[in-house]
Amino acid sequence: MKVLIYDDAERAVVSAADQLVAVLETKPDAVFGLATGGTMLPLYQRLVELHRDGRASFGKASTFNLDEYIGIAPDHACSYHTYMREVLFKHIDIDPSRTHLPRGDCADCVAEAARYEALIAASGGIDFQLVGIGQNGHIGFNEPTSSLSSLTRIKTLTEDTRRANARYFDNPEDIPKYALTMGVGSILATRRCLLLATGVTKARAVAAMVEGPISAACPASALQLHPKATIVLDRDAAAEL
Ligand code: GLP
Repeated sequence: MKVLIYDDAERAVVSAADQLVAVLETKPDAVFGLATGGTMLPLYQRLVELHRDGRASFGKASTFNLDEYIGIAPDHACSYHTYMREVLFKHIDIDPSRTHLPRGDCADCVAEAARYEALIAASGGIDFQLVGIGQNGHIGFNEPTSSLSSLTRIKTLTEDTRRANARYFDNPEDIPKYALTMGVGSILATRRCLLLATGVTKARAVAAMVEGPISAACPASALQLHPKATIVLDRDAAAEL
């Protein structure tokens, strides 16, 4: 696990974007694993800028997102489909048919999880996975106690996570209770992985991930087992290391 600490969030974001673009340069048809959440917003903004400046082309790339809320259709304002479309996809030259997220409006979500995992495998696997971290150490929606070998499946969200994500929903009752998420094992199977964390609210989870025992109590700690994981932090997120 390589840990890179930058003076501020802006520098951390620039570093993460540069690492992703470097992958595109060597492999234009790379398969990227993407994450959502507030932390990723400035990173996607940066990628859009690099694309506008002619420094990044996604014309041959494919993407798989980590997760989606169950019970929320792709066109719902709070879906991760909408987040990705509005924040990144519609601003870059990616072929929409090569962007993938699990479908939250699934009638049979167990089948949808298996379909998604099989689709990742059929793509040849993820070359570069972006990951964020929840305050409780979750990655994707792999909440504490998630099996470290888990694949894409249904997860029940913790109250903490539902509270943390409440800001995106008008009505607290609308916050989904379940999600489809790539598993910890799916994330460990990626060829390279970059976790970006900024801000002091992440400091405890970051310390547990980097310096704590490998444990399902902190799913992000499984990244210690990843052969090529880079943790990109600002000083605030690194405060408890
Ligand atoms: C959600 C997402 C995660 C993300 C986390 C942190 O739970 N499913 O993928 O890492 O939020 O989000 P934020 O960056 O807003 O703190």
